[in-house]
Amino acid sequence: MMRGFDSIDSMNHEELLVRRKRGNKKVLIFLGIIIAAFFIIGILIGYFSRPGNGGSGGAAPSTDGNNFDYVKFVQENVNKDNIRENLRRYSSEPRLAGTPLDEKLAKTIEKEWRENGLEEVHLATYEVLLSFPNKSNPNVVQILNGSNAVQFESQKFEKPLTDHENNSNVVPPFNGHSPSGNVKGDVVYVNYGRIEDFEYVANNLSLNITGKIVIARYGKIFRGDKVKNAERFSAIAVILYSDPQDYNMDVNVTNTYPNSWWLPPTGIQRGTVGVDGDPQTPLYPSTSYAHRLSDMETDLLLPRIPSQPIGYGDAQEILSIMGGPDAPEDWQGGLNFTYRIGPGFLDQNNSTVRVIVNNNNEVRPVHNVIGYIKGKEEPDRYVLLGNHHDAWVFGAVDPLSGSAALTEITRVFGLMLSKGHRPRRTVVFCSWDAEEYGLVGSVEWVEDHLKVLHQRGVALLNLDYAAVSNYSLAVGTSPLLQDALYAAAKKVPSPDPSVGETLYDLWTARPIKKMKDPSPDPYVTYSLGSGSDMAAFYQRAGVPSVDMWMTYNEIEMPLSSYPLYHSSHETFFAYDTFIDPGFSATNTITQFMAILACDLACTELLPMDVQRYSAAVSNFHQTLINSFGDKWQKQNVNIEAFDSSVQNFTAATKAFQDILDADKETILKSPLDLRRINDQLMLLERAFLNPEGLPGRPSQKHVMFAPSQFDSYVDNSFPGIMDTMYEIDHGDEGKWEQLKQQVFIATHIIQSAASTLEDIGL
Ligand SMILES: *[C@@H]1O[C@H](CO)[C@@H](O)[C@H](O)[C@H]1NC(C)=O
Ligand SMILES: *[C@@H]1O[C@H](CO)[C@@H](O)[C@H](O)[C@H]1NC(C)=O
Ligand SMILES: *[C@@H]1O[C@H](CO)[C@@H](O)[C@H](O)[C@H]1NC(C)=O
Ligand SMILES: *[C@@H]1O[C@H](CO)[C@@H](O)[C@H](O)[C@H]1NC(C)=O
Ligand SMILES: *[C@@H]1O[C@H](CO)[C@@H](O)[C@H](O)[C@H]1NC(C)=O
Ligand SMILES: *[C@@H]1O[C@H](CO)[C@@H](O)[C@H](O)[C@H]1NC(C)=O
Ligand SMILES: *[C@@H]1O[C@H](CO)[C@@H](O)[C@H](O)[C@H]1NC(C)=O
Ligand SMILES: *[C@@H]1O[C@H](CO)[C@@H](O)[C@H](O)[C@H]1NC(C)=O
Ligand SMILES: *[C@@H]1O[C@H](CO)[C@@H](O)[C@H](O)[C@H]1NC(C)=O
Ligand SMILES: *[C@@H]1O[C@H](CO)[C@@H](O)[C@H](O)[C@H]1NC(C)=O
Ligand SMILES: *[C@@H]1O[C@H](CO)[C@@H](O)[C@H](O)[C@H]1NC(C)=O
Ligand SMILES: [Zn+2]
Repeated sequence: MMRGFDSIDSMNHEELLVRRKRGNKKVLIFLGIIIAAFFIIGILIGYFSRPGNGGSGGAAPSTDGNNFDYVKFVQENVNKDNIRENLRRYSSEPRLAGTPLDEKLAKTIEKEWRENGLEEVHLATYEVLLSFPNKSNPNVVQILNGSNAVQFESQKFEKPLTDHENNSNVVPPFNGHSPSGNVKGDVVYVNYGRIEDFEYVANNLSLNITGKIVIARYGKIFRGDKVKNAERFSAIAVILYSDPQDYNMDVNVTNTYPNSWWLPPTGIQRGTVGVDGDPQTPLYPSTSYAHRLSDMETDLLLPRIPSQPIGYGDAQEILSIMGGPDAPEDWQGGLNFTYRIGPGFLDQNNSTVRVIVNNNNEVRPVHNVIGYIKGKEEPDRYVLLGNHHDAWVFGAVDPLSGSAALTEITRVFGLMLSKGHRPRRTVVFCSWDAEEYGLVGSVEWVEDHLKVLHQRGVALLNLDYAAVSNYSLAVGTSPLLQDALYAAAKKVPSPDPSVGETLYDLWTARPIKKMKDPSPDPYVTYSLGSGSDMAAFYQRAGVPSVDMWMTYNEIEMPLSSYPLYHSSHETFFAYDTFIDPGFSATNTITQFMAILACDLACTELLPMDVQRYSAAVSNFHQTLINSFGDKWQKQNVNIEAFDSSVQNFTAATKAFQDILDADKETILKSPLDLRRINDQLMLLERAFLNPEGLPGRPSQKHVMFAPSQFDSYVDNSFPGIMDTMYEIDHGDEGKWEQLKQQVFIATHIIQSAASTLEDIGL
């Protein structure tokens, strides 16, 4: 993942999930009997029914049209020892994008996927703008005394804590795409660097941030947004650090890696502060013939002020001697002194801070690995499975645990193929490069293949890290796939037999976010707009997407991410010892992804649920009306039309589902009807794209779900409306016309979505 998880408090989330409770144990057992029956019949008749003959037993959700029980096959063949060995191999060296060791891994994956039986495997290479620190002129943060003599320096290299980490290819700590700079000034503490944090300092404390260096703790929002906010308040540099409150919650503060998974004082989180995709070719692919922006134009898209990450051991040297007012209670972190705001230091020596960054932007080739198994009946329909292979350092958690799992899935699919079971639709496997620099490999590839993906992409399943712990399942999804996820989770054994029989039971029993009322359904979010490689598929091509991983108990441990995130301590040792000892969580998510892929690629009728979509739209719409209805009425916003479009969409999804339920058998027997219904299902997501994009953000096109520009305070629904309301609530009354336009666009888009579910719809 390029970003730590943001804490998204989905308002009224649980209400979204109450639509209908499906499936209970009895149904499951019944289903099991039916499946077993089909399986036995399948064996009796043999699998040798004519190729291309869809068969008629396809309604059973766990078999393909030829009664092949792929669930059983996946369960029996996914092997966690293989995954563990894949991970050991992949994470043996640092895998920084644009370096020879990363290219070597791409070629290893290419070779292994071919050996595993994928039919076509190739590298999709793009020349893109990356960014590297200079090892012989390392980045550093200093405290200077009144005559500019250096009193203290941050670590220039992250301290190796196991032999394996003592490797000359470990890149020194830096922020990707931070510009170089050498600046000196008074330091100001800005908590998490959110807009409200800067506003508190600037407005409530009347402290002018212009010309200051700010120190912000990692967490809550994307680090690049902290830098953006600092720029907006005219700071000249940003120091980012990991506070123990967010990254080391152990009461025994010295019980850190390599004794536990907690971040040690010398551990440093790397990470990009730049934009998504190659900044030289916004909206278009970085092909060999691409027109690239000039350096000057490119710089305008990237941060303008330098930033540099440090560990909490070093941050303590700065924070502990700062002057000015005490920081408020909830700004106090986990270090053992009172945090103060500044500016500058307590002593009377005129001490200052210097930030020195020597990064270079460089154009280098990056290599996605793309392989597929061609679909039998519908080769022009794609189910895509993706993960990235570049890492900040060893990447044993992010992303190589996911890469290890994906390669195991290619092996299982290859085996299936060799036994004569070809999926109905084409299954595409993707291993992305340069994700850590802003999803670069996947964005360029989606831009390169936008037209076919837009027309033919059935679904994209993203697996970044497979597991950051083994407690429960975390999922971001399109509402269209939510029920498919629940169905697939019921077919996967629980990684912890003491907590339920299936992954679904575990997921239900262990919610990772507080929900207002007990919800009948396991917790999901609908935020897919950033942070990993599903973003371009969802936001640009409108392909229904899922992002998934196994995680820790986020209610008990409100961390900003797993503690070793993007440090050099993300080693095989850490994964094998602390993250998922025994690999049972990793095994579970691998089976889950494989079965979900089969459900989407092998069943005749796509497992997509349009009523889940209208329930989500209707719920978030209601939240908007509850929050802003009165204000909108006073401004003559057209609420009636907005309401009406939501009602129409709800009615259209119900009518569609009623027909589907009533005519299912007929539809399954008619290839034309089946194709028509499947197209309506998979294309529904496209209806929510605004070709023009969100205000000021042409590459974010999804009108229902996209990240907010003012990140930290909202769920990710109706982003155009929510962002405009945020600006209005912050005093920009000039934005009311934009608000009316955004409500109009949402109304139009929802009404359009309704019409795509009708036979004629004109
Ligand atoms: C890295 O730093 C060294 C020493 O200051 C300098 O000679 C070299 O040119 C720098 N390299 C780049 C690529 O800037
Ligand atoms: C700064 O430190 C240097 C050497 O450590 C010392 O010579 C100088 O007097 C100090 N200046 C101030 C203003 O403290
Ligand atoms: C790293 O390895 C070098 C030799 O390869 C050795 O001199 C050095 O002491 C090692 N550092 C640590 C921290 O283990
Ligand atoms: C900051 O000032 C605003 C406006 O005066 C006020 O509403 C808010 O409560 C203050 N925030 C804090 C943390 O004191
Ligand atoms: C902050 O300081 C800068 C220059 O130091 C000045 O231009 C600006 O007007 C100040 N802002 C406020 C709000 O006082
Ligand atoms: C704290 O953790 C360290 C490292 O694991 C251990 O050596 C030490 O005994 C622990 N201290 C206490 C009081 O448990
Ligand atoms: C705070 O912790 C540091 C290191 O953990 C220790 O050296 C220092 O003595 C502690 N200070 C106080 C006031 O407890
Ligand atoms: C701090 O700077 C002020 C103004 O430049 C100067 O008068 C004072 O002597 C300096 N103090 C020290 C301890 O250097
Ligand atoms: C400030 O300067 C005085 C005298 O130069 C020195 O004794 C003291 O340690 C300095 N304090 C800090 C925090 O550097
Ligand atoms: C989950 O991980 C913990 C260590 O963090 C381990 O003790 C436990 O056995 C694991 N549970 C399962 C089911 O693997
Ligand atoms: C909703 O459908 C009704 C009936 O077809 C239609 O009159 C109305 O204009 C539609 N609403 C919108 C916003 O298009
Ligand atoms: Zn990642």
